[in-house]
Amino acid sequence: MHWKPAPHIGVNNQMQVSMPTPQEILAELRKVRYPGFTRDIVSFGIIKDIEVAQPGVTVIMTASPNTKPETLAQISSEIQRTVSAMAGVPAVKVEVEQAAPARGLAPTPARRTIPGVEHVIAIASGKGGVGKSTVAVNLALAMAALGGRVGLMDADVYGPSLGMMVGAAHRARVTHDRRIEPLERFGIRYISMALFISDATAVIWRGPMVTKLESEFLFNVEWGKLDYLLIDLPPGTGDAQLTITQRVVLAGGVIVTTPQEIALLDVKRGVAMFQQVQVPVLGVIENMSYYLCGKCGRRHEIFAHGGGARFARELNIPFLGEIPMVRQIREGGDTANPIVVADPGHPVSAGFKSIAADLISQLAHTGDGSRIL
Ligand SMILES: Nc1ncnc2c1ncn2[C@@H]1O[C@H](COP(=O)(O)OP(=O)(O)O)[C@@H](O)[C@H]1O
Ligand SMILES: [Mg+2]
Repeated sequence: MHWKPAPHIGVNNQMQVSMPTPQEILAELRKVRYPGFTRDIVSFGIIKDIEVAQPGVTVIMTASPNTKPETLAQISSEIQRTVSAMAGVPAVKVEVEQAAPARGLAPTPARRTIPGVEHVIAIASGKGGVGKSTVAVNLALAMAALGGRVGLMDADVYGPSLGMMVGAAHRARVTHDRRIEPLERFGIRYISMALFISDATAVIWRGPMVTKLESEFLFNVEWGKLDYLLIDLPPGTGDAQLTITQRVVLAGGVIVTTPQEIALLDVKRGVAMFQQVQVPVLGVIENMSYYLCGKCGRRHEIFAHGGGARFARELNIPFLGEIPMVRQIREGGDTANPIVVADPGHPVSAGFKSIAADLISQLAHTGDGSRIL
């Protein structure tokens, strides 16, 4: 890439205006939208570095091996135009670093869409026990309560959300043409690989086998027409999660965390994982944010809460909201009666619905839905 002089050069006397700082340039680049999305290019994490020196500004952007050359060219010329227009910028150079395929993985397997499914959202967390499945289930129900056709896929064979959704007694059915029929409850479609395997099998399966089966399994379910499919990913942000997020065309990812510092650090890993596969992060949800007392109705701060919001701000991703720790959430999980349907008037149910509404509106703006970048 070559230096291109800014168009206003020679019009103003550039020597009198000092060059903008990298922060100012970054702020300006936040106004540039990623082609086909309402999200800006900075929040997509593709701006790697900005150098301000003579003879001008160098913007270094990263691109995944999947990014189409037309998209890259479009972004690059938008960066060029935006930075050139800033006062004090004599010339601009945009450099593109095409990221190598993820280490240890096949050179980016083809991503597929799921026929009939409009938007696929992956729900991730740094580790187990933060309430990812609880959030996934209640969020799916909240999206359905707002009128969406919703499916939920439990991809965590080791700690499935199954009991929470349907209780223990259900079995999944396979159609005559060997397609898997999802269960239907509370108006949403639900499937878990755990419906097909015994606990004993799950234990002897090794990670890579599970991952491979999982990504195939997803495409063999007869989802029908869905507006939203939520995938409750296995906890963690390693290769297993990466593989799933690479196989299916995702509209976005959601990260669930708890307020403890250690869990918050995992948010960074989650964001990095989605960025690596060029999936926009739709936001962070802080679960068990504070304790909401069922008796007195007051909130008690157990951990220094608000870390989720702070982290989201630092990482330039949306903060979707906080869910308190309440007895009814756990009880609803234990009795297969999730709070959003068991007690729709509860403030927590309202909280899930407002997060669902936020996600729905974000997805409504992503052009024609899920796409490969
Ligand atoms: N906001 C909450 N309030 C009370 N209990 C919760 C809340 N979120 C999750 N739990 C409980 O915490 C446990 C772990 O939640 P789960 O959703 O299975 O976590 P994960 O899927 O991240 O492993 C469950 O017993 C669940 O009922
Ligand atoms: Mg879980």
